[in-house]
Amino acid sequence: MYTITLIRGDGIGPEIAESVIEIFAAAEAPVQWEEAYAGRACLERFGTPIPEATLESIRRNRVALKGPTTTPIGGGHRSINVAIRKAFELFANVRPARSIPGVQTRYNDIDLILVRENIEDTYAGVEYWQTPDVAESLRLISRPGSSAVIRYAFDLARRLGRRKVTCVHKANIQKLSDGLFLECFCAIAQDYPDIMSDDILVDNACMQLVMRPERFDVMVLPNLFGDIVSDLCAGLIGGLGVAPGGNIGNGYAVFEAVHGSAPDIAGKGIANPTAFILSAVQMLHHLGLHADAERIENALRYTLVSGIKTRDLGGNANTREFTKAIISNLPPRSQVQAQNEPVGEPYRTPMLPPRSTENEGWQTVGMDIFFHALQPPTNLPERVGSLRLQVISNRGVALEANSSDERYLLNWFRARYVAEQPVSEAELAELMNTLAPRLHWTTLQRLYRTREGIDLFSPILAE
Ligand code: NAI
Repeated sequence: MYTITLIRGDGIGPEIAESVIEIFAAAEAPVQWEEAYAGRACLERFGTPIPEATLESIRRNRVALKGPTTTPIGGGHRSINVAIRKAFELFANVRPARSIPGVQTRYNDIDLILVRENIEDTYAGVEYWQTPDVAESLRLISRPGSSAVIRYAFDLARRLGRRKVTCVHKANIQKLSDGLFLECFCAIAQDYPDIMSDDILVDNACMQLVMRPERFDVMVLPNLFGDIVSDLCAGLIGGLGVAPGGNIGNGYAVFEAVHGSAPDIAGKGIANPTAFILSAVQMLHHLGLHADAERIENALRYTLVSGIKTRDLGGNANTREFTKAIISNLPPRSQVQAQNEPVGEPYRTPMLPPRSTENEGWQTVGMDIFFHALQPPTNLPERVGSLRLQVISNRGVALEANSSDERYLLNWFRARYVAEQPVSEAELAELMNTLAPRLHWTTLQRLYRTREGIDLFSPILAE
């Protein structure tokens, strides 16, 4: 018997949670619920949208099923989902997209699993105003973070008997960040010779998903691309109302539907519990309870095929009627082919130890200085010690000295100073002492080169 933390959430959350509780009880799934609270009601009762007792319950049980919670827009309490994701470092967001018979869509044979990195990328939330005209968002892609989610995608593929994992990226443009994601993918793929692997650019992936979705099996993506492409995949199977999801971390997992709290229909008893039931089914697979998962999913599918649907899918059943129909359609255990696995250890992936620039032989060869100015500067020194002004750029493109070009210049520039040989900290300090009185700098970026002479920064584009 597994003890699972259950957060009913708000809006339609309590209605769809009741549906899952009833179906699990009728199916005699070996799960007992430990109720915990989060959301608006919590804020009123405990003064916090996510009480410590709820985090403690997830810590104890390691697996949670969470209903949707309302996030106030433009102020109010912070997103509960983000708080949980961060507290338990849920690095992988797993969204299966499988066609549901009886749900009208353009395709009837979709069967893919999208694994999205869940913590890094632009979602690390490192953003700055650089000038009144320029906001900057840092796109953080790390070796440990990418490796964790990619390894999880391969482990998942192996566990579920899937044939292929595809890395979706934009390494032709984001050569360093997406390049790192792809590099981690290619290295980890070597450890899984039983599973095919390939990669595709994210723009092409979107087109292929619409034209030839059968080309894909398991997909793994950095966070922002994953966010967008997973909704595309949800669209292939009938929209957010039927799209389940799970968030996986080292030893922890939280499952929830993709949709929100649907305040417009809350309390009316007409919410569609399909996505939440499928999230609970995904949770059963995660626990190794494949037989129980298959039994409940088959009952759900049979119910939809037989035409019993909620209003959002074109039917006229309410939540209770739909739930009762699923219960009456539960197949006998003898008809289920999948086997439950014995209770196992919670999923863990080795986290890579941090490496140092020194041990890796990285040498400092220069500095990029980003600065605010209304005109291109004319007073920057050509040389400071061994550091030479290589280029001034605007919007990533070099300014030519005597260019008659009339392109629009932003009020945010970059000066790149580079040396032939590695420079000392004292030389960098001297550069800053020389430049600081002459320009209004906003950001400093150290430039590294490997011992083998490979620059670890992107070149500046020529005009
Ligand atoms: P939403 O997904 O709650 O609703 C969008 C539309 O889909 C509405 O018309 C709604 O009635 C319908 N809908 C959604 N789920 C349905 C279901 N199970 N059955 C029938 N119809 C369904 O998205 P919205 O309106 O943008 O967000 C509402 C609130 O939910 C916001 O506060 C948002 O922050 C929060 N939210 C919470 C999430 C979570 O806790 N995981 C995820 C997404 C949004």
